[in-house]
Amino acid sequence: MKQAYYGSFSERTGYIMKRVITYGTFDLFHQGHYNIIKRAKELGDYLIVGVTSESYDIERGKLNVRDSLLQRIENVRKTGFADEIIIEEYQGQKVSDIIKYNIDVLVVGSDWRGKFDYLKNYCDVQYLERTKNISSTQIRSEGTIYNIGIVTDDIYDNGIVVESKYVSGLHVESVFSEDEQVAKEFCEKYELDSYGNDFDRFLCGPDIIYIKTSLKKRAEYIEKAIALGKYVISDSPMTLHPETLRGLFRKAIENKVVLVEKLMLVYLRAFNQLVWLTHGDLVGNVVSVKCSISQDDFDGGKSFNETVAHAICAIIKLLGKECLEVTSNAVTDANGKFIYDVITMKYPTALATIEIGSTVDVENELVIIGSKGRVTVPSDWWNTGYFEAKVEGNEFLKRYSFNFEGNGFRYLLQELMIMISDKRTECTRLFYEESEVLVDILKKINQRG
Ligand code: CTP
Repeated sequence: MKQAYYGSFSERTGYIMKRVITYGTFDLFHQGHYNIIKRAKELGDYLIVGVTSESYDIERGKLNVRDSLLQRIENVRKTGFADEIIIEEYQGQKVSDIIKYNIDVLVVGSDWRGKFDYLKNYCDVQYLERTKNISSTQIRSEGTIYNIGIVTDDIYDNGIVVESKYVSGLHVESVFSEDEQVAKEFCEKYELDSYGNDFDRFLCGPDIIYIKTSLKKRAEYIEKAIALGKYVISDSPMTLHPETLRGLFRKAIENKVVLVEKLMLVYLRAFNQLVWLTHGDLVGNVVSVKCSISQDDFDGGKSFNETVAHAICAIIKLLGKECLEVTSNAVTDANGKFIYDVITMKYPTALATIEIGSTVDVENELVIIGSKGRVTVPSDWWNTGYFEAKVEGNEFLKRYSFNFEGNGFRYLLQELMIMISDKRTECTRLFYEESEVLVDILKKINQRG
């Protein structure tokens, strides 16, 4: 609905100080930023500059920002033109700022032409010509590009090719498969630069190797890639042998590279928020974590171990590594084929259960029960941007919702880029020790009957 124009602050009050506001991320501060801030100041007497917060940029899918918020604020401050710097934290804040700060003119670059016309109900909107031939995106692309190579035995990329385009500094370059025809088809399908079935030769190219072969061969490929100093992302689990896994992590540390297990859950904002809030006493002492999952619904239908690994990961993140006892109660059909299982993981003061259905449908849901309430992640909890909490003393359900783009792979890739630039030797979203406990538990489950 179009609002009536009430006049700007100075028009209404006759007060002559003209107040201007402009917004931006101001990442990798450049001449274009300097120019627009300077020209914005020239349009009035008092200039407010809004700098986007990290969480707002992530929320709107801008994952490639390099400088911290503090650094970006400092760069704006150093221009000497800003009388006040504020933080832009959410969509829709501009209207509220214009009213709150009595703004007369909103200034943005010409790349936004027309996009902020709706604000003309509140103040004058001026689109200033962008400075030519410079942008943060351009500067980022001049930085180091990390090439990714994929190791596969089918022609599905799990979304990495599209997802990598949302993270700056990444390029999916090549593909390896033992079956040359598969590699060729994959290469053509995703328009990569090269393919091959000679692993040693393939390894010479990329900086990052993504391993998505069947479980049997993963550890061998990971070991060779790490030995050549490559960063590795591997589908989970990487192996079912705890000793092998420990060996791989040792080698990754020795070679100063990071071995990232593709358990997307730990890279999702919603899940991390859920863990922090739960650890922060949202529902009191946690007594139960229940994860239910239908194998068919999980990532297009994955193996038992891959499916269960995600549930164990969620439980470790919520309850920790001190799992005392694991029991499995698999139900099979007359031919011994797996149908259904309820796995229990006993903790000192809590019990976790994983309900998994193969040919039978179970409700995909994660429920945390605590002494003061419960948290529920309805539907596909391993791939979510939403959860809700019902807490004692509060009759209303509290809903938590976070933006979630694509299939989530971009969040893992973005985190990997940070690990590389910070020269980390361990993945900080899922610690090596946590992965090791996960495989210990998986091994126990596989030893059943
Ligand atoms: N801007 C400009 N001239 C440029 C680059 C940016 O006038 N060459 C303006 C934008 O139009 C915007 C403000 O500076 O009003 C902040 O832009 P921001 O998005 O932070 O900078 P970009 O360089 O456009 O960043 P990116 O490439 O990440 O989109």
